[in-house]
Amino acid sequence: MEKFEITTYGERIAEVYDEFYKEVDQNSIDLLYKFAEGGRALELGIGTGRVALPLQKKGVELYGIDGSEAMVSKLKTKPRGRDIEITMGSFAQIEMDEQFDLIYVVFNTFYALLTQEEQVRCFQSAADHI
Ligand SMILES: C[S@@+](CC[C@H](N)C(=O)[O-])C[C@H]1O[C@@H](n2cnc3c(N)ncnc32)[C@H](O)[C@@H]1O
Repeated sequence: MEKFEITTYGERIAEVYDEFYKEVDQNSIDLLYKFAEGGRALELGIGTGRVALPLQKKGVELYGIDGSEAMVSKLKTKPRGRDIEITMGSFAQIEMDEQFDLIYVVFNTFYALLTQEEQVRCFQSAADHI
């Protein structure tokens, strides 16, 4: 099998992602909004902004991390997509100066981290930024 890099998922699906996954559960947006307490939130694996943009629309200051230019370029074409500050790289290690009221990862994205070492590092790094 060819090597699975952090760019691989996006390269394979970015063109059709929003067509495949049109829906977002409003209850999940409302819950994330409640957790963010109107403050600042970071989405790990933000992708095309399917979850982040409706949350931003409710008034949360959104940041994102993603490894795929192909996915993030879709986000940037959407209304207010460029208002979200994106850090490119792996969310296994959050390389950002900001602190957040909420850091979240949704839609099975956490399992893109393929080793336990990376998964633990991700939680430690998130804890350092809360
Ligand atoms: C299933 S999509 C989910 C996108 C968005 N969270 C949503 O719910 O629509 C997974 C996203 O995580 C990104 N991703 C996968 N592994 C990553 C990693 N190690 N670091 C950063 N981003 C990663 C992919 O590029 C893709 O944009």
